Amino acid sequence: MFGRVNNVMGVEDVPLVAIADAVGTPAYVYSQGAIEDRYRRLARALGGGRARICYAVKANANLAILGLMRELGAGFDIVSAGELQRVLRAGGAAGDVVFSGVGKSVAEIDFALKVGIHCFNVESEAELERLESRARLLSRVAPVSVRVNPDVDAGTHPYISTGRRENKFGVPEGTALGMYRHAAASDALQVRGIDCHIGSQVRELGPYAAACERLLGVVDTLAAEGVPVDHVDLGGGFAVPDDGEPGLDVEAYGQEVAAAVFDRGLELIVEPGRYLVAQAGVLLTRVEYLKRATREGQRNFAVVDAAMNDFLRPALYKARHPVKAVEANDAAPLRWDVVGPVCETGDFLATDRDLALTEGALLAVFGAGAYGMVLSSNYNGRGRAPEVLVSDGDFRVVRRRETVGDQLALEGEGR
Ligand code: LLP
Repeated sequence: MFGRVNNVMGVEDVPLVAIADAVGTPAYVYSQGAIEDRYRRLARALGGGRARICYAVKANANLAILGLMRELGAGFDIVSAGELQRVLRAGGAAGDVVFSGVGKSVAEIDFALKVGIHCFNVESEAELERLESRARLLSRVAPVSVRVNPDVDAGTHPYISTGRRENKFGVPEGTALGMYRHAAASDALQVRGIDCHIGSQVRELGPYAAACERLLGVVDTLAAEGVPVDHVDLGGGFAVPDDGEPGLDVEAYGQEVAAAVFDRGLELIVEPGRYLVAQAGVLLTRVEYLKRATREGQRNFAVVDAAMNDFLRPALYKARHPVKAVEANDAAPLRWDVVGPVCETGDFLATDRDLALTEGALLAVFGAGAYGMVLSSNYNGRGRAPEVLVSDGDFRVVRRRETVGDQLALEGEGR
């Protein structure tokens, strides 16, 4: 969807320069067509409608993106009442929502019980106890799945690995069995499924297959005890290509992992975030200053108007996102570090990139559709960037640029 026409980089035939001129920089730009393509490809790979795709809202929670997911037929994986409010505001149905996360508060549980979500993905015995007592108090029956920590190595960055025994997520299989027995005997709880999420940016099938096998083992034990589950939720984490490494082969996932769930006559739920939106987004930024090295050991810095507060992934995970100049120019290529205005050495968008740059040049940071805007902050007093959605050869602002007024509004008059 992103490409060059007559040496001008555009998205779905809309020149990125036109978007930057209209909304300024920095700005996030998303391609609706790219999201639709990804969703349909995944749905096809997972048996054409046999799996329930619950989009992980945390990856990109813009209302327009959530509305698009709903239109495509997605459900939603949420981790807070705030995300649930967003889903409902975007026209999503509570009945299509699964609720993950280790720290659900009483208020969040009550809200989710009242609107009637599809399933609580319970992460601890203490949470199950709280859920049961809140459901009883509100005269509801809480649909539950227990998040099993399958202790598999997803082979990903330690900060985004979640399925090892040392991680805070889920419970061991033995604990899960006890929780299911308790739930099956409770009039306030209804056993619905079993779930796991082993990590993010997972490239290999092996960890998924191993996790799935572990969950199906628990399913078998439960079935033998007369406690059936309806669904197996294998979480998200499907990698997209980056840094020269390939993404997860979702067709193979469909054939080798999803099929094992279907073969049992169970429903499969997946919770992809990044896979659906990462490559559908770019961050547009403009070069403010070029600071060339003048002595040995110095580096060449391109100081741009986007910073770590806008896009944190490079600083936080050393993530390497492709950066390209949107318009061709005749500057001599040089090796640059692309850095922001924030007062932190870790404030970089890219390091060691061979680019032809001029001051004022417009750059696009690729792969910024997931965990971009959602991780942004007001650090250094910077307003959050606007978000733009491109569809059918046109674009519209789906979140305006944050102003200083927006930031100050929450603090009244100060002292
Ligand atoms: N389900 C659960 C329970 C999760 O915790 C996550 C992500 C997902 C689904 C979606 O994972 P995905 O398909 O997007 O990989 N900020 C990090 C990623 C953190 C992911 C946390 N959990 C990053 O920028 O790489």
